[in-house]
Amino acid sequence: MTDTTSPALHADIAVIGGSGLYRLFAEGTAETVDIDTPYGRPSSPVTVGEMGGRRVAFLTRHGSDHSVPPHLINFRANIWALASLGVKTILSSSAVGGVSPEVPPGTLVVTDQYIDRTSSRPDTFYDQGAVQHLMQADPFSPELHALAVEAVRQDGGPFRASGTCVVIQGPRFSTRAESLWFRAAGAHTINMTMYPEVPLAGELNIETINLSFVTDSDAGLAPEAGAEKDEDAVSHQLVLQRLADAQPRIVAALEAIIRSIPADFVPRDQVAPDAVAEVLSRPVRR
Ligand code: ADE
Repeated sequence: MTDTTSPALHADIAVIGGSGLYRLFAEGTAETVDIDTPYGRPSSPVTVGEMGGRRVAFLTRHGSDHSVPPHLINFRANIWALASLGVKTILSSSAVGGVSPEVPPGTLVVTDQYIDRTSSRPDTFYDQGAVQHLMQADPFSPELHALAVEAVRQDGGPFRASGTCVVIQGPRFSTRAESLWFRAAGAHTINMTMYPEVPLAGELNIETINLSFVTDSDAGLAPEAGAEKDEDAVSHQLVLQRLADAQPRIVAALEAIIRSIPADFVPRDQVAPDAVAEVLSRPVRR
């Protein structure tokens, strides 16, 4: 078994890459580690390298070959694996649709709220051991959110300093009725993976910052809006194409955010530290 407590593998910061982001470090510049967890295998091996002057662990949410669909991601294994490397902050990179006209395709959003519309996903580490009720009024670190906003502002492109993401179960996309309902409920963006990744990190006292790139306008303009065909309406192909085109911009924004995280940053104790220690001492499954 890999010794994840080895200083060579320690990282304070992790990047979780979504669709289209399968590698972060140049060939030969990072260590790759397979991590077993009490919940089975994470989506991919973790690579540990340098970015923005910091040691950074990188995990691909959908697997290195995009073989893991959103509803089958082993979120607990992913978060546990990163926690075992000492990670205190997760920078999550997401592809999202825009359900509000305020966030057109091409916009970078630093998300600060989510609405959970998933179902039946294992979403807690505390279904054994001590009872815990995680507070989620501010699911993303307010301190790091403010720093990330200033870092991403330098990008100079379309940008929103806050946004509410509705997280759907998938793997199907939304009907037009659902999309309009989400907009009326106050959502700006939509994706399939922000839940339960964010609260699971919180349960291990890891803070999350989310950088979302808007790839599409979800179900698209209603026919009554006058459009014959909305070029921005979502399809899997469109999402992948737009992410590939935006990759350099997204990676540059991630690096700027990493540079903005103070070396001495202390995450909130969202859960009693001894409860977190108990989760991290659970026997791994091979
Ligand atoms: N990811 C990117 N675009 C999306 C959309 N419209 N719905 C759900 N997940 C998405």
